[in-house]
Amino acid sequence: MPVSVFDQTVHQTRRERFLEDLGAAAAVIPAAALATHHADCEWPFRQDSDFFYLTGFDEPDAVALLLPHRPEGERFVLFVQPKDPAAEVWTGFRWGTEGAVERYGADLAHPLDQLAEKLPHYLNGAEAIAFRVGRYPAVEPLVLSAWGRQLDTWSRTGSAALGLVAPTPILHRLRLRKDAHELDRLREACRISAEAHELARGITRPGMNESEVQAAIEAHFRASGARGPAYGSIVAGGDNACVLHYTANTAPLNDGDLLLIDAGCSVSDYYNGDITRTFPVNGRFSAEQRELYSLVLAAQEAAIAQVAPGGTAEQVHDTALRVLVEGLLDLGLLIGEPDSVIEQGDYRHLYMHRTGHWLGLDVHDVGAYRLGERPMTLEPGVVLTVEPGLYISDRLAVPEGQPEIDDRWKGIGIRIEDDVAVMADGHEVLTAAALKSVEAMER
Ligand code: GLY
Ligand code: MN
Ligand code: MN
Repeated sequence: MPVSVFDQTVHQTRRERFLEDLGAAAAVIPAAALATHHADCEWPFRQDSDFFYLTGFDEPDAVALLLPHRPEGERFVLFVQPKDPAAEVWTGFRWGTEGAVERYGADLAHPLDQLAEKLPHYLNGAEAIAFRVGRYPAVEPLVLSAWGRQLDTWSRTGSAALGLVAPTPILHRLRLRKDAHELDRLREACRISAEAHELARGITRPGMNESEVQAAIEAHFRASGARGPAYGSIVAGGDNACVLHYTANTAPLNDGDLLLIDAGCSVSDYYNGDITRTFPVNGRFSAEQRELYSLVLAAQEAAIAQVAPGGTAEQVHDTALRVLVEGLLDLGLLIGEPDSVIEQGDYRHLYMHRTGHWLGLDVHDVGAYRLGERPMTLEPGVVLTVEPGLYISDRLAVPEGQPEIDDRWKGIGIRIEDDVAVMADGHEVLTAAALKSVEAMER
């Protein structure tokens, strides 16, 4: 990660807030392991987002301990891969235990192979152990064994953790609301992602292949210092756009078709952009394409206008859905009363996904969408996508009572997606540099 991006105090503040909310539980937060691609080849390393949020440390297999029950100077412990010139010749630089202390602010750091031996010592005296079960197979047995030992020796020591608690609801509540540093990093991810969309629209011509446009987008990500795509880029010409997770990106782009591009980058510290734009391959909308594009755009703009403190993601979705359904009724693609069409779900063969999700270190970021019956209230610092769409194809059956679709509409798939931060006075569209007006989509 470029030195300029890493700020130890940012992570320290997060650890302090996390510990405050966690109370007297000792937290064990593992890093990600390398994942096998095939045989002895690995995927590029992708750090665990919870671990990264708290530490900023970007190496595999490490483990962070946050120990509120220990004295000052022993509360943040990192277990890391030790310095090892022979290994570093093969797999690259490691910060080692000294770097863990000096650069990453650990109170104490140990080589990873001492975790099994030292973990029981560090967990002794904690009222509870905060560990996310089911996700970290290498670390989980060590945590359970340390706790089991405490219970086995309780009659002699009088001290054992009373339970295993989940750190994630607390951590994910913090991660949902982005701090100023995170908003800046998201702005950077969104800026690079938006530039790539502008570039892609500029080069697209009939006869090119989807793969060429994908290559240009991802080349821009890398050339701009991003890690690469935040998720499998979707570059979908014509009817391919009606497959929501189309990532093959291997078809020729036809004169007269639309091109839907859903692509965003992940920057060096993992914050993500997530943008969708749809435009005519030949630079001119057909009448049907223009009608539907204008409708999705109107739905998206109405939905974005709902993003403000005190609102909910549900309101954002409901607003987009109502505009879409009313427009589809006007066009004769649906029939009935808007309320009953919405209530019955009679639009779902044309619009089958929700209007957005939280965005942050994960593309589909963590954080609850509901608290029981109540949808989560939007607060300053929450970042969400707003991404309505329409997908006109034969794939799903037309609901009873709804009209069959005329062929002239088929093969049109449109989504428009922006990333929007809730601000004290309303919202900020982080991806506004990617144009989306009808005029801007034409040439
Ligand atoms: N690109 C994934 C999504 O839009 O949710
Ligand atoms: Mn999205
Ligand atoms: Mn997307």
